[in-house]
Amino acid sequence: MSNFEVIIYEKQNDIGYVTLNRPQALNAYNIQMRDELYQALGAIKDDPEVKVAIFRGAGERAFCAGADLTEFLTTPSQVVARQVRWERDVWGLFLSITKPLIAALHGYVLGDGIEIALCCDIRLASEDAQFGVPETGLGIIPAAGGTQTLPRVIGRAKALEMLLVGRWINAQEAYRLKLVNQIVPRPDLLPAANRLANKIKNYSPTAVGYAKQAIIRGLDLSLDQGVKLEFNLGRRLKKQ
Ligand code: COA
Repeated sequence: MSNFEVIIYEKQNDIGYVTLNRPQALNAYNIQMRDELYQALGAIKDDPEVKVAIFRGAGERAFCAGADLTEFLTTPSQVVARQVRWERDVWGLFLSITKPLIAALHGYVLGDGIEIALCCDIRLASEDAQFGVPETGLGIIPAAGGTQTLPRVIGRAKALEMLLVGRWINAQEAYRLKLVNQIVPRPDLLPAANRLANKIKNYSPTAVGYAKQAIIRGLDLSLDQGVKLEFNLGRRLKKQ
């Protein structure tokens, strides 16, 4: 359904599917993937026929093994490398999408991989998933929001441990830390994501979008401000 080379974007029955598709490099995130992902995210955001999207990785071994080390660490300098990553604000676009996003995670979920997952709202992991943030050990820091999104999901102490020590965690620990919502057997990963997506897509897209905004935007507000946000969104919904 798309002319992309390193991702696959498909649309089926109101669900958008993004598959990171460089299995020979464990779906490492390169500049081309950044550009293609940017376009696919734009399509998800703007296409009214897409009610919910699922992100997954091609091949048996990885959702995504992080930034493509042959590109990002061999450019003239790491400063340039970081600029290259920011030329398109993929992460701002990701976080601006009010439709529900589901990550179906297997194998290696490292660096940009975990950051993509953290831009999603519901994360499912297969039993073989392994999570890590190796950037600090490579002399860089995450550049896809990971220093902000990870502690918001698993808390400050564990996020610092993962980032500073570079410790990887398995699916069980990720579940205990609430990094993932469910662990499923590998063959059930996509079916489980589909079950969730099929349920969500039948709900009012506006109600779903407002509910997502109320939680995500509200978490950055005081309780008082958050309750006001909920009230305002609820009032807007009733008027429609
Ligand atoms: N960038 C570019 N290529 C990558 C990659 C990455 N982040 N991760 C894996 N690959 C490539 C390997 O170079 C290898 O390619 P080759 O077959 O042409 O040699 C292929 O994917 C398979 O990886 P390999 O290292 O042989 O598999 P493994 O099972 O021995 O190890 C990992 C798997 C994930 C432990 C290892 O690939 C690794 O440490 N990758 C880098 C992780 C990382 O630091 N990411 C950056 C975060 S900022």
